[in-house]
Amino acid sequence: MNQATLHQLKVFEAAARHGSFTRAAEELFLTQPTVSMQIKQLTKSVGLPLFEQVGKRLYLTEAGRELFTTCRQIFDTIAQFEMKVADLKGLKQGQLRLAVITTAKYFIPRLLGPFCQLYPGIDISLHVTNHEGILERMSSNMDDLYIMSQVPEHLDVNYQPFLENPLVVIAPANHPLAMEKNIPIQRLADEPFIMREPGSGTRRAVQKLLDEHGIVVKVKLELGSNEAIKQAIAGGLGISILSRHTLVTDGKDLTILDVEHFPIQRDWYMVYLAGKQLSIVARTYFEYLLEAAKEFAEKTAKSNFFHAEKNH
Ligand code: PGA
Repeated sequence: MNQATLHQLKVFEAAARHGSFTRAAEELFLTQPTVSMQIKQLTKSVGLPLFEQVGKRLYLTEAGRELFTTCRQIFDTIAQFEMKVADLKGLKQGQLRLAVITTAKYFIPRLLGPFCQLYPGIDISLHVTNHEGILERMSSNMDDLYIMSQVPEHLDVNYQPFLENPLVVIAPANHPLAMEKNIPIQRLADEPFIMREPGSGTRRAVQKLLDEHGIVVKVKLELGSNEAIKQAIAGGLGISILSRHTLVTDGKDLTILDVEHFPIQRDWYMVYLAGKQLSIVARTYFEYLLEAAKEFAEKTAKSNFFHAEKNH
């Protein structure tokens, strides 16, 4: 590997990530023959093939996979170094990679605006996916910080709760039960129900409560998006159980039903891999988010939906 250059590793990393020389070339503003040439030289230094082509698709060989992991570590270390230098220079700059569960998208992007204004040198990439998706990203160490509602059990992580994430029963505003108080949970079995997709943390929490009470709901529709579910409820297709935060945007056609045992109390956690040394940028964001979450909670506590729940 003595002959290998950092540039070759960058080219290889991009090609491995995209599974395509052409797309790596596009990303790095290189020509396709340059990419091929760099990878050819790198392959020579390693002494084993890094890719294999099956049909039109490009796959990593075992050596390729090992090198890909090594590249990630090398570039992570370099990024850390760059951030440390920036910090020594008194600058907060660098990259922040965040991955958040679907319900957190209702407030994380709002908080990113002020954060970016405060630290214009920080570039952010934000990934939104469900619980299962976050676990996958986490086990391949793809991001700096994760925001999720259930701390993973099988991964060694550090975590901190920072905001409540209650799950509530949502129905169309004109639903016959809208005015009733303390509706028995068994009533849920009589309503057409819209369920999140398998792999969703919301779904898992809902299922757990229903199982505890021996309730089987009539699932009419399964949807992989909170927004789509809100639209379906407003369209009269059924009721559902979602994070109350999903109502911060246009929830006027919807209402929260006062069902016993609700809300399901959950929290949002900021999570990162235990072995990971948080970058200065990630730590800055961590602290910022703790503060911002406090303000967010105070502000939303004054909004109608939050009052509605308190009056129950
Ligand atoms: P989900 O995330 O998108 O996986 O349902 C929400 C949660 O876990 O609370």
